[in-house]
Amino acid sequence: MSKTHIKLTVNGREVDVLAEPRMLLIHVLREELNLTGAHIGCETSHCGACTVDMNGKSVKSCTVFAAQANGAEITTIEGMAGADGSLHPLQEAFREHHGLQCGFCTPGMITRAHRLLQENPDPTDEEIRMGISGNLCRCTGYQNIVKAIRAAADEMQATKEAAE
Ligand code: FES
Ligand code: FES
Repeated sequence: MSKTHIKLTVNGREVDVLAEPRMLLIHVLREELNLTGAHIGCETSHCGACTVDMNGKSVKSCTVFAAQANGAEITTIEGMAGADGSLHPLQEAFREHHGLQCGFCTPGMITRAHRLLQENPDPTDEEIRMGISGNLCRCTGYQNIVKAIRAAADEMQATKEAAE
């Protein structure tokens, strides 16, 4: 099958990949760009393990053809840490509050939580639960995930206020 050129900006880096029209974004990220943080769980848009940020929205990258993402800005879990390797407050909070066990859902969960906090920097626990309702976790029971997102929101708010 013929391949087409697709340009993406992934975690701030411009990349040019050749992909067949049937290829999904998750496969381009994992197999062509070696960004294996986003996972493949169901491949039917149910689990959220493949969640990445695309043009300022959370998307399940198993439901997006790579060709549809042409020209897009994508952020994956690999783009969350600082340039110096320091963890993002969400990553710190998930570690601190035991927001993960096996970790399979975690990249998608954190990427989704990141977008949620961009849209709503001070969510209630109910809003957090609603915000991550497209991301399934088989291990944690969600309590600690909600706690971690709440803690990260507080930390990010405090940092923002300190900078003002
Ligand atoms: S792998 Fe994409 S939603 Fe499950
Ligand atoms: S930590 Fe195992 S699926 Fe969420």
